[in-house]
Amino acid sequence: MTEASEHAFSTEVHPADAPGALGQAAELLAQGQLVALPTETVYGLAADARSPEAVARIFEAKGRPAGNPLIVHVDSVEMAKDCVAAWPSAAAQLAEAFWPGPLSLVLPKADSIPDIVTAGGATVAVRCPAHPVFSAVLAKCGFPLAAPSANRSNRVSPTRAEHVVDQLGGRIPLILDGGACDLGIESTVLDLTGDTPTLLRPGMISLGQLQAVLGPVATAKPPAAAEPLKSPGQLQRHYSPRAKLILVKGDFGAALGQADETTHVIARTAAPAAWPSERWHRLPDAAAGFARELYDTLHRCDQLGAVTILVQPLPDGDKWVALRDRLTRAAGA
Ligand code: TXA
Ligand code: MG
Repeated sequence: MTEASEHAFSTEVHPADAPGALGQAAELLAQGQLVALPTETVYGLAADARSPEAVARIFEAKGRPAGNPLIVHVDSVEMAKDCVAAWPSAAAQLAEAFWPGPLSLVLPKADSIPDIVTAGGATVAVRCPAHPVFSAVLAKCGFPLAAPSANRSNRVSPTRAEHVVDQLGGRIPLILDGGACDLGIESTVLDLTGDTPTLLRPGMISLGQLQAVLGPVATAKPPAAAEPLKSPGQLQRHYSPRAKLILVKGDFGAALGQADETTHVIARTAAPAAWPSERWHRLPDAAAGFARELYDTLHRCDQLGAVTILVQPLPDGDKWVALRDRLTRAAGA
């Protein structure tokens, strides 16, 4: 596969509510081109999920390894059923409870979904996003859209159009700007192909919420190095900023004592008196607010030239599991 040149396109960025913007997006997608657009979780990089040529452009623009499958986005249960070979009652119950929303369901794939989407696998992840811009584009297209997060491979997912410009500018024709994403971290991914539903990637729809609908749900263990990956999103190092991120365990005050002028801090509490405010990023105390601002803050730390990012220990509890997962991966620990 040839690497997409950084300057192959002069990327257009349009407010999603500009006249004609949604129509232009749908037209490009129908022609097999890529469009970046907001979902309620993070920005996605969309292509016609039925077209192997269009989907190949996603892998090229992101520099994504061919072994990492994509999530197929749909605007209804009806469209989801066209993408899968079976729609078990668990899927029906979960769609009823959580769609449109940040939950991706892994099911046996239908023949209509080309192998490149699923990285050659027999399963496909489907999700019905809850963002009006994405829904409107799906409705105009009338076909499912494969869409990973709109970042270069292994980098932090974008939660604002500017993050997409930074990473994919020049590599894609169009970005729809719908403002900041509401949730801020990627969807929960749940595998429904085995005997017990299995959580592959935690998200803001928590294990407890899934169990309330389904009963028992297993949690996928991070694979040992030699094992084939069930979900490449389980790769340990992922979602990384350029700076070295440290999720502090134990004494936060002691960790701060080791900091120098290239150290930035992400915390839920105010900076100690002597700390320069431009290197102290205070995030909301509640998990939802913290998630909404986290990736934007990581992008900002990179822009400000952070060498190290210290993150204050996170609270315990179901609501923080997905955030701990992302930060642990970003730390590569
Ligand atoms: O919130 C989201 O899910 C965002 C927005 C754009 O919808 N998308 C997203 O896509 O995060 P991506 O490609 O960055 O992450 C998809 C994750 C990866 O960890 C991938 O390995 C996993 O889902 N995945 C996709 N298809 C799968 C499959 N058939 N079986 C197991 N894991 C799958
Ligand atoms: Mg991603």
